[in-house]
Amino acid sequence: MKRFTLQIGIALSGMVLLFSGCNQGGNAANGALSSSAAEKVYVAPGEQDEFYAFLSGGYSGNLTVYGLPSGRMFKEIPVFSQFPTSGYGYSEETKPLLITSHGFIPWDDLHHPDISQTNGELDGRWIFVNGNNTPRIARVSLSTFETEEIIEIPNSAGNHSSSFITENTEYVVAGTRFSVPVPQRDMPINEYKGNFKGALTFINVDPEHGHMDIKFQVIMPGFNYDLSHPGRGKSHGWFFFSTYNTEEASTLQEVNASQNDKDFIAAINWKKIEEYVNNGGGTEMPANYAHNVYDESTHMARSTMKKKVLTVDPTKVPGAVFLLPTPKSPHGCDVDPSGQYIIGAGKLSADITVHSFDNMLAAIEAEKYDGYAYGIPILNFEEVLAGVVKSGGLGPLHTEFDGKGNAYTTFFISSEVVKWQLETWQVVDRKPTFYSVGHLMIPGGNSRKPFGKYVVAMNKITKDRYLPTGPEMEHSAQIYDISGEKMELLYDFPTHGEPHYAAGCPADLLRQNSKKIYRLDENNHPYSIKSPVDARVEREGKDVHIYMSTIRSHFTPDNIEGIKVGDRVYFHVTNHEQDFDVPHGFAAIGANTSEILVMPGQTKTIVWEPKQVGVWPFYCTDFCSALHQEMQGYVRVSPTNSSIELSWSVGE
Ligand code: CUA
Repeated sequence: MKRFTLQIGIALSGMVLLFSGCNQGGNAANGALSSSAAEKVYVAPGEQDEFYAFLSGGYSGNLTVYGLPSGRMFKEIPVFSQFPTSGYGYSEETKPLLITSHGFIPWDDLHHPDISQTNGELDGRWIFVNGNNTPRIARVSLSTFETEEIIEIPNSAGNHSSSFITENTEYVVAGTRFSVPVPQRDMPINEYKGNFKGALTFINVDPEHGHMDIKFQVIMPGFNYDLSHPGRGKSHGWFFFSTYNTEEASTLQEVNASQNDKDFIAAINWKKIEEYVNNGGGTEMPANYAHNVYDESTHMARSTMKKKVLTVDPTKVPGAVFLLPTPKSPHGCDVDPSGQYIIGAGKLSADITVHSFDNMLAAIEAEKYDGYAYGIPILNFEEVLAGVVKSGGLGPLHTEFDGKGNAYTTFFISSEVVKWQLETWQVVDRKPTFYSVGHLMIPGGNSRKPFGKYVVAMNKITKDRYLPTGPEMEHSAQIYDISGEKMELLYDFPTHGEPHYAAGCPADLLRQNSKKIYRLDENNHPYSIKSPVDARVEREGKDVHIYMSTIRSHFTPDNIEGIKVGDRVYFHVTNHEQDFDVPHGFAAIGANTSEILVMPGQTKTIVWEPKQVGVWPFYCTDFCSALHQEMQGYVRVSPTNSSIELSWSVGE
């Protein structure tokens, strides 16, 4: 097997092409060079990748879009951040997306992307992501690749077992990592045990528009809820959450939360709770959380504060919630494509625990309980167990599936991906990762229909894999070919921020629906103009609204006089292009924000508050044409008490 370093790989790829060229008509598939790693990730100039991969950006607050197998980054989608590249979070239209009950919070820690599904298969409409820190769930359109909606999660903290969706995108689910007082109140921290609670939130997704609305929160015991995955197929209607700190320790968790030999996977029959709620069950609790929606037609987001949330006490819904004992502080909680197996990876263990859904139902039926936790039945471990994977690795974290009966689990401590078989529980292959792998991703690997050709391992430590860039190295992802019996490491590529989970899908699922322009005749932005002849400037007291047009290669108006120190100047910039990939930018000297990048057919607004008298230029920031450098204008700023009338030139 070939092990190219990156440099040698690239140097040889030319030769590889020559050789495979000579080989045409021969048995190329078995040729020594045709199996080279370099060839497998080589996407020739002008050719396109086979898969999209969406990697979480962790503390960047963003989601990054890559192609597989090339590992080329195509786009960084800002979600929980202000992003100067596009003006997201700076433009007046997008600022409301970042409103929370704590105010304008333009940062978060984005962890787990999940693509919408229909009948358990990826449908490519939206991708959901979570913000951990100030708990939020966002929905990103996979037509515009823009953030369309963000909902804050009340009663939650560290929002980690999120944002996973049910088989028909009925719900996107958010689970709290940290239990907290529910509702929040002033109380001693050492009274945690028995008093703090963990909220598992089920957010309804409108099937047509994707709009999110919290349907109910299950108020669980004060454990830490780490990760979750939906049931599918036969287990559709259930949701599974791994827990740790079932000790309910409130200090020195490193030691105190590792006392119990087994923590739990919580199994939630959400269909049963949904029915209970639809029949008037649950308790409405006062709450305060933001719901922010971007409207593609007005090109504008609105923020509303919601004032109540429906909570459910799990002991009030018999048969809805059970606890499956799972060894050694489980982290990953994954469900195989058939929905039969629920995999719990005890992060302090060498083994992987696999529970059987059928066994779970039988144990529930026969009431094989080992007791109760706060009134919730604990099922007998042996009764629900399907098998144990004796891996020989250390520190299992996350599992994905190839749809061919194999599972792939990452091991953080022993730095490897281990391939094992469902039902025989036998390890069949293992490959090292460089270094300390966290999550892994197979396109569709969290659905009924995985596309088991590649697995991407996302590593936590990079060290010597790239040219050094000071103390901080970007995290490194590695792509393995898993089409054969043995995994083959193909390529390393740097990622952005800290990828946690990722989601991938075949390129064809998204390519056709990817939006090319916004139609001008559908632009309902209140400050848009339909054509450059409508360009104008209007004063309302200290506020000045500039209705501006951009088209290659000029601004209308291009010169504005009559602005005064102390004014708030709103540049409402409409891009009158109707061509794919022709944005215009707008930046003004002294603007206390970023530029804005305006897509064809779109309107965006930047606020400029001139502080100094003078004649100040603005210009287009995106190289849009040969005469891009001519795309500029001036604002004449006069003293506050000046009597100069508003006037503007339209280039005549
Ligand atoms: Cu418009 Cu450069």
